[in-house]
Amino acid sequence: MRTRRTARTVIAVVATVLLAGSATACGNSDTGAGGDSGGGDKVVLGFSQVGAESGWRTANTTSIKEAAAAAGIELKFDDAQQKQENQIKAIRNFIQQKVDVIAFSPVVESGWDTVLKEAKDAGIPVILTDRSVDSADKSLYKTFLGSDFVKEGRLAGEWLVEQTKGASGPVNIVELQGTTGSAPANDRKEGFAKAIAANPNLKIVASQSGDFKRADGKQVMEQFLKANPDIDVLFAHNDDMGLGALEAITAAGKTPGKDILIITIDAVKDGMQALADGRFNFIAECSPLLGPQLMDLAKKVHAGEEVPVRIETEETTFTQEQAKAALPDRKY
Ligand code: AHR
Repeated sequence: MRTRRTARTVIAVVATVLLAGSATACGNSDTGAGGDSGGGDKVVLGFSQVGAESGWRTANTTSIKEAAAAAGIELKFDDAQQKQENQIKAIRNFIQQKVDVIAFSPVVESGWDTVLKEAKDAGIPVILTDRSVDSADKSLYKTFLGSDFVKEGRLAGEWLVEQTKGASGPVNIVELQGTTGSAPANDRKEGFAKAIAANPNLKIVASQSGDFKRADGKQVMEQFLKANPDIDVLFAHNDDMGLGALEAITAAGKTPGKDILIITIDAVKDGMQALADGRFNFIAECSPLLGPQLMDLAKKVHAGEEVPVRIETEETTFTQEQAKAALPDRKY
């Protein structure tokens, strides 16, 4: 053990020097807890984060950094700035640095097989967190820790079906999708569409990506409002896009939560405040607090222990009244 660590330290130092430039070029990297470049007896975890596109993502990053520090794990953190090529470069850097475990939240679902095979060939276990990949070869990663995004979309759709029961005329829905090609955008769209499918009066009249960002949500909602004078419902794939859309709706002279029903996903504090204030109508929760479970899994896979191939995050939903009650204790 000691010999392997010493050899790895030498390799890691050389690799760190050689890779310093490319690591910066592919995103923002930092070492979290301790930052001892692979030395000592700590488990070294290379983590590639999607970016900083939303309140959810910020809370997720905080959870991971705090949990690593608490668990005594050395975290090599890379921010991919929402670019898949940056994540692939970061994973290759982690492989060259011979980290003990690699974890990442994939920006998009497809295109991971080659780099995952490189990690497997190097003997480094991979954990998927928050988002999954569509690789057919499930041996390329040890486990996937995260939400059931199809279920979140379904819960959003089921709430709408319940609310619009007995509506005689058409109910015009606009949809703000998350990042194109990402698992949460694909799955939430699918879950919502299936939930409303048996109700022909519920019609999605426009659906476009707002990239999970507040500014994009506002801009796309402005376009929706111009093209569709009679919007009854907005389904936004996250709180941030819904919050951006609020500005566009208000600027168009409409009252959010009344003239247009707003359903979102996440339940971050700002979203919960909008729900409690009556500007949103329903939120399906997606928890970003994955750090402690991730650190536990990293230690287990490093020790060669078996872990479940799928670990689903526990989540709930919120109405306006439930948001009022939950807000004072909301952690993110
Ligand atoms: O992958 C989780 C999603 O990514 C969150 O719902 C969204 O807010 C984030 O950007």
